[in-house]
Amino acid sequence: MKRVQIAPSILSADFSRLGEELKSVVDAGADLVHLDVMDGHFVPNITIGPAVIKALRKTSDITFDCHLMISEPQRYIDAFIDAGANMISVHIETEPHLQRALSQIRAGGAKAGVAVNPATSADALTDLYEFCDFILVMSVNPGFGGQKFIEPALKKISRIAAAIRERNLVIPIEVDGGIDPVTAPAVVRAGAEILVAGSAVFNHKDRAEAIRNLRNATSSALLV
Ligand code: DX5
Ligand code: ZN
Repeated sequence: MKRVQIAPSILSADFSRLGEELKSVVDAGADLVHLDVMDGHFVPNITIGPAVIKALRKTSDITFDCHLMISEPQRYIDAFIDAGANMISVHIETEPHLQRALSQIRAGGAKAGVAVNPATSADALTDLYEFCDFILVMSVNPGFGGQKFIEPALKKISRIAAAIRERNLVIPIEVDGGIDPVTAPAVVRAGAEILVAGSAVFNHKDRAEAIRNLRNATSSALLV
């Protein structure tokens, strides 16, 4: 049986205590940590860059999953690899030379992901599967935490999962945006394996319980 991985997104953490916040979700049982990088250009918000990620890297060995919501991402890939990123996703909407960007991520020793916005069709991924290690399906428009899950993402996840199966590839699907114990089961049934959760984890008073709630909600979905 597939195991669902929970990736708390530090976007909803207290940025004045990032090191402690990171430790709190590592101790709470996170499988990996999702780091949202925003440039105020591709998305209407600005967050952290390689310097902050490099500083956090010193505090934990957990897998760092860097979600680049930035224009011209290829210019910054090496900086994120140097900062200690283990997974890097690049938005398909930002990069005309995506295959080259993905190769650069792999050459740096990280897993290469393609992120797709809600309005981008699953068909856009057709010629990319061979070049990536994971797919990040956005179930909100990127830029902010705490938004409502966009339902048609489910159909897109199923279509992507089918395309991966048809090709006999093993490429995990990660889903990001509006994930909580209510939305998570359908996402897992559709074929997702990595669940990003920002507000559902960081706005919960007990983070271990929040992660457990997500696991419990999805373990029954896996049995279906
Ligand atoms: C949104 C970010 C997400 C965000 C998710 O642009 O990519 O990773 O932190 O937050 P929630 O889980 O609150 O929707
Ligand atoms: Zn994200």
